[in-house]
Amino acid sequence: MPAEGARRPAWVEIDLEALRHNAAALAAIAAPARLCAVVKADAYGHSAVPVARAALEGGASALAVALVDEGVELRRGGLTAPILVLSEPAPEAMDEVVAHHLSPALYTLEGVAAARRAVAGAGLEAPLEVEVKVDTGMHRVGASPEQVGEIVEAVVAADELAYAGLFTHFAVADERGDGFTAEQVARFEKVRAELKASGLPEPDHVHAANSAGTIAWPEARYDMVRCGIALYGYAPAPELGPVLAAELARVGHDRLRPVLSWKARVTLTRQYEAGERLSYGRRLALPSRSVVAVVPLGYADGVQRSYFQAGGEVLIGGRRCPLAGSVTMDQIVVSCGPEAAVRPGDLAVLIGSDGEEEITAEEWAQRLDTIPYEIVTRIGPRVPRRFVDSLEVR
Ligand SMILES: Cc1ncc(COP(=O)(O)O)c(C=O)c1O
Repeated sequence: MPAEGARRPAWVEIDLEALRHNAAALAAIAAPARLCAVVKADAYGHSAVPVARAALEGGASALAVALVDEGVELRRGGLTAPILVLSEPAPEAMDEVVAHHLSPALYTLEGVAAARRAVAGAGLEAPLEVEVKVDTGMHRVGASPEQVGEIVEAVVAADELAYAGLFTHFAVADERGDGFTAEQVARFEKVRAELKASGLPEPDHVHAANSAGTIAWPEARYDMVRCGIALYGYAPAPELGPVLAAELARVGHDRLRPVLSWKARVTLTRQYEAGERLSYGRRLALPSRSVVAVVPLGYADGVQRSYFQAGGEVLIGGRRCPLAGSVTMDQIVVSCGPEAAVRPGDLAVLIGSDGEEEITAEEWAQRLDTIPYEIVTRIGPRVPRRFVDSLEVR
């Protein structure tokens, strides 16, 4: 199959050298803390197995996923690095956790018991490494500071389990002015001191920071950082751009590079007169005569319907061209202007650069009032991922 996809000329390009570069830069920022690459949700839409491999090549030493199935996929792809499952797996998933040597987050006594049963049932010789997650204020998952002692005690008392980690997760690390991250760090420190005072052993490693924590909260780097969005080349929030640049300069690395581009080829062009209305709902009258290009990607692929109303653009021939009507399930119509020499087969760039122009996932996020995370994770599975290595391209 040609790399662009034989059946439909639309694809996502993943630059693995950019990924390695970002991993190396984040590892340098975090050092001496280690880097854990967060590759959940198919590596934020970038394709988990090749991205995990490239992240490890770049300097990560561990991986993290949201789901047991995601961890199993990595193992099946040949990855042998430690894999942390960030939320406690369901009791019925613990056999898979054990079979694939995943490290589950635990934060309930039921979870501890299920992990023990699964290890005993599998007849493992070495104990399963597990990590206890404590909720210091995110209030999503994790043991409360009051409960965490009995969870750690249960883990430490179980021959089947090894107490490998204690961790927490930040709610607002991307909002620099918000003092709540400092409050979460203080609560985490208090939990650690209380566990120690009650005679419990320290785990192998302690961690808290997501990308924003890694970049903007040096005191929260502990033994390991868990980076997702920055690994893919995005600042966790626009306001973190300057501190990210300062940190990169401190460790002598270039700016983070976007790893993902989203491209297609024009399938059809037609010229319409001023006043013609295109696509469902006939929402917009063309302000002037225009060559309109059909691009074979739609909302079933992750082009949100609101991208048209939000003034969304596509690069064609290296120029910004606005959508000319509603996004449909499989296709969009793009207005290229009265004199455009656009032909079927020409390149259309939804995210990425062409010549001097660039459309970023951040730009999409800004238009659609969301975050780059949502833009890249929503690019659907029917868009093939194609891997390039910018080192080889150069
Ligand atoms: C527990 C946990 N740690 C780390 C991350 C990575 O976050 P980011 O992509 O902001 O670096 C996530 C992602 O949401 C997470 O849920």
